[in-house]
Amino acid sequence: MSIFVFLKFTNLPYDSTIQILGAIMKIYPLLLGLGLTLTISLAYDANPKMQTYIGDLKIEAKKLDPSFTDFDAKRGEQIFSNEHIGKRGEPISCASCHGKDITKEAKNAHTNKHIKPLAPSVNNERLTDPKEVEKWLKRNFKDVYNREGSPLEKGDVLYYIQTK
Ligand code: HEC
Repeated sequence: MSIFVFLKFTNLPYDSTIQILGAIMKIYPLLLGLGLTLTISLAYDANPKMQTYIGDLKIEAKKLDPSFTDFDAKRGEQIFSNEHIGKRGEPISCASCHGKDITKEAKNAHTNKHIKPLAPSVNNERLTDPKEVEKWLKRNFKDVYNREGSPLEKGDVLYYIQTK
């Protein structure tokens, strides 16, 4: 599965993709015989642009707190699910718009419009474009917390989303 996804990303013509897959299938029993298995993983893998973005957030977080070591998905989950009196003077959380289970579609608490799942495991467009991510984090933190997120908060919440 992951091989196929990888080959798709290389933009090879479909025929070559099939040929390469065929070749892999041929040597696979051989690999098994040698005690090797192909690791099948569908986990989110940040692209280079996103890695740079997250790296920059780490540098900023470290500047603000020299004891900073890394972001934390557990803290991110709290930031995501805790309710606050938001921009409109009513209790709201990130989950109010993105849902408690971010692998599912959700409904925007302000506009009632559908929002596609935030989890990269089910929506491969998520967390791929730092500009888009930065723009929405800025706006969404203001919706919920009435201020912009700190580099630490943004990193934590991105780690949380990445795990889903
Ligand atoms: C009032 C509704 C609302 C709230 C509250 C909200 N969001 Fe969003 N969020 C949106 C909308 C609308 C989009 C853009 C449409 C889309 O991407 O589906 C979006 C997009 C995003 C994206 C962009 C993801 C990508 O790569 O495409 C991230 C990340 C995100 N939100 C995180 C958060 C976090 C973290 C919070 C809480 C601090 C939050 N959101 C709260 C409505 C909301």
